[in-house]
Amino acid sequence: MRRAKISIIGAGNVGATTAHWCAAAELGDVVLLDIPATEGMPAGKALDLFQAAPIMGFDARLTGTTDWADTAGSDVVVVTAGIARKPGMSRDDLLSTNAKIVGDVAARIRDTSPQAVVIVVSNPLDAMVQRTFQVTGFPPQRVIGQAGILDTARFRAFLAMELGVSVEDISAMLLGGHGDTMVPIPSCTSVGGIPVTQLIPADRLESIITRTRNGGAEIVALLKTGSAYYAPAAATAQMVEAVVRDKKRLVPCAAYCDKEYGVGGYFVGVPVILGSAGIEKIIELDLLAGERAAFDKSIAAVKELVSVMNRLSA
Ligand code: NAI
Ligand code: 2OP
Repeated sequence: MRRAKISIIGAGNVGATTAHWCAAAELGDVVLLDIPATEGMPAGKALDLFQAAPIMGFDARLTGTTDWADTAGSDVVVVTAGIARKPGMSRDDLLSTNAKIVGDVAARIRDTSPQAVVIVVSNPLDAMVQRTFQVTGFPPQRVIGQAGILDTARFRAFLAMELGVSVEDISAMLLGGHGDTMVPIPSCTSVGGIPVTQLIPADRLESIITRTRNGGAEIVALLKTGSAYYAPAAATAQMVEAVVRDKKRLVPCAAYCDKEYGVGGYFVGVPVILGSAGIEKIIELDLLAGERAAFDKSIAAVKELVSVMNRLSA
């Protein structure tokens, strides 16, 4: 059987770390691409990672390049190109710079890997995935945004810290945009099968939800020179795995919702089934009234973000 070809656009912190997780899990052969100005950097990182293969014992080829021809015919393309958030900068401040970068990248993907499933990571995520969809013209099932797996992982990590239990026993769900309006769903969150609301008092749970919403900013404030990349890359690699191994994972991703949840043609975080075709199904939950109201607010924020992006690029 042919090994999957995974191209990662942007060989910075998230891109290179995603390459690391994908290669170590033998998800396929990995091509790391960056801009010509980075001269040698993607090739250096790929070679360095490949030299870890004999030690760690993984079979995956890694190539670094600045030439889009090397990405041709990819099964999965991950987009991490762009600038990252610095302290004091919101995700939305990144909008105009990254919309231009991601638009250019999307046009290259359309021309070189027309059958690929595209996983977008660049921020502001909800707008960048919409831009990728607009420019590639790919079916919406094959354009997916990474945010929900990361945000849910942060929620799960904080719950594990609070309860002193294994992260493995915590199952959670989170909806909406990848921003301050994201909506953790306590009614879909359990610890060893026990609803979280039976284990943590409401006020304490609310403060964990607030910390989750600020999870990205918390890391930015600590690092000072950039934003999170280990957990974002792990989340992205889990999506790549779901696609190349046709895992049918039920996970939250930014998916194109039209009639679903009454969104009307935007990418928002919802539970999906992820497999070789990309998004194979969007799961519609019966939300509690408060959850629905918070979700609507988040959808409105995504629509506003996309309209600002469209205006800036008109
Ligand atoms: P980074 O600065 O380390 O890497 C970005 C790379 O993109 C750089 O190497 C740069 O040269 C490259 N690049 C710029 N323009 C390009 C182009 N046209 N073609 C190819 N490569 C290009 O940044 P980092 O930390 O890797 O973050 C990447 C993006 O991911 C940022 O926008 C960041 O905000 C976002 N992010 C999103 C997360 C999410 O959950 N959706 C989580 C973490 C980061
Ligand atoms: C994060 O949530 C910066 O979006 C990125 O860490």
